[in-house]
Amino acid sequence: MAVERTLSIIKPDATKRNLTGKINAKFEDAGLRIVAQKRIHLTPAQAGVFYAVHAERPFYGELCEFMASEPVVVQVLEGEGAIAKNREVMGATNPADAAPGTIRAEFAESVGENSVHGSDAPETAAVEIAYFFSGLELVG
Ligand code: TYD
Repeated sequence: MAVERTLSIIKPDATKRNLTGKINAKFEDAGLRIVAQKRIHLTPAQAGVFYAVHAERPFYGELCEFMASEPVVVQVLEGEGAIAKNREVMGATNPADAAPGTIRAEFAESVGENSVHGSDAPETAAVEIAYFFSGLELVG
C-alpha cells in the first residue's frame, strides 16, 4: 500500500478538554506518524472556507462557529494508506455509530462536536494540507 499524507484536525471540543495527547496516542498507536502539527485559532470565515463543500447544508453556520469557538490542532499524518487508516481510527461521524475504541466513540460529544476531522480522499487531503501548511513545515 502506498504511503499517504492526510490532514487531521483536533477540534475545539477536544482541545478544550485537554484531549490532544490522548488523541495523538491513538494515531501513533495505529502507525500514523505526525509529520506536522500546530495549534491555531480559526476565524469563522477561515472555518467556512475549509468546510465550503458543506456551505448549503443546514448545519454549516453552526459548524463554522463551533470550529472557531476554541483553538484547534491541525496536523498532517503520514503512513501506509493513511487516509483510510485515519478515518478508521476516527470512527463514524456520529459518535453513536462509531465503533468501540475509535476516537469518536471514546471522546466525541455529538455529531457536531465530534473531536476530529480527517480528509476523505487523496484529492481533498492535498487541498486541505495546502490550506494549513507550507511544504517546509512537513517534516517526514
Ligand atoms: P462530514 O464530512 O459528513 O463528516 P466527517 O467529519 O466524518 O468527514 O461532515 C463534516 C462535519 O460536519 C462533521 O464532522 C460534523 C458536521 N456535521 C454536523 O454538524 N451535522 C451533521 O448532520 C453532519 C452530517 C455533519
